[in-house]
Amino acid sequence: MDTVVSGIRSTGNLHLGNYFGAIKNFIRMQHEYRCFFFIADYHSLTTHPTPENLQQNVYQVLVEYLACGLDPEVCTIYIQSDLPETAEMYLLLNMNAYVGELERVTSFKEKIRKHPDNINAGLLTYPVLMAADILIHKAQKVPVGKDQEQHLEMTRTFGNRFNRLYKTDFFPEPVAFNFGETLVKVPGLDGSGKMGKSEGEGNALYLKDDAATIRKKIMRAVTDSGPVVPNSPKPEAIENLFSLMKLVSAPDTITHFEKAYTECNIRYGDMKKQLAEDMIVYLEPISRKISELNSDKEYIKKVVSRGREKAKESACKTLEDARQIIGFRRFY
Ligand code: TYM
Repeated sequence: MDTVVSGIRSTGNLHLGNYFGAIKNFIRMQHEYRCFFFIADYHSLTTHPTPENLQQNVYQVLVEYLACGLDPEVCTIYIQSDLPETAEMYLLLNMNAYVGELERVTSFKEKIRKHPDNINAGLLTYPVLMAADILIHKAQKVPVGKDQEQHLEMTRTFGNRFNRLYKTDFFPEPVAFNFGETLVKVPGLDGSGKMGKSEGEGNALYLKDDAATIRKKIMRAVTDSGPVVPNSPKPEAIENLFSLMKLVSAPDTITHFEKAYTECNIRYGDMKKQLAEDMIVYLEPISRKISELNSDKEYIKKVVSRGREKAKESACKTLEDARQIIGFRRFY
């Protein structure tokens, strides 16, 4: 049975991009594969070196994982920093990761642009740590959104390089996985780019958002004055609104607004109202579950310690084998 690994950084609440890009697949995959889903708290330090409340952030993502339907009875849910074996794997992989190739990674270049005051080595080697997360369980499949494609390519590079250097076929080649569909990119509400936690207030819809917040954010989404020529192509902001609608609305609702757009009689206010109501219905069971689970600290603790145990067993085995392959031998 193939092994699956994926994680989400603990830098904020989960949003619609995380859900449709990753978690929706986690939920389906957990019943079909050997799955490890973790919370990337080491990774969060690359951009947030002094987080105000690291533990609370991790707790929140855990609760939200469970609220979405991750079942700790069938998959392994753990915290990245509970598995220091990952850090050793990262060290080993770093020896064969080249600075030149790391400097060319798009997400690194973007981070340099956004945070010129904090270009740390952790940021540069972010893809190596991600490769360590995946390779530590020898995963074949990695459910992620489109923005992680290049990181996956790097993981394959590092795994293959290890195999070549040590003349082994130890690491499988992990691929980004979305049940045969193209990888998802959920757009933000600000008219351009992807939905993300660091893209500014109002750009993201969070799974925990209540109905009033969802309405407010969607009604403020960027639009324009509407098409004037029939069948004209959609500007990015409008295309984005339709993309969001396709995630949560019924097919005939989408057809209705597509037709209205083509015929130049679309009213964006009506479209946004409909999108907001459909979004509320879609997210309501998740946000309700988040509130329920938030107070169940004992249950969360149990999930974490059981997850840690299972993840450790898998990681220790891989790490020990990797050490042997490289040539580390114990003298005792
Ligand atoms: P992160 O925390 O930025 O995002 C977590 C997951 O959500 C997906 N995602 C999106 N998908 C579609 N549209 C969007 N707008 C959108 N925003 C986020 C991401 O593709 C991702 O799947 N480096 C990773 C975390 C990580 C990881 C790993 C993932 C660390 N180690 C090992 C897989 C395997 C990250 O920063 O994701």
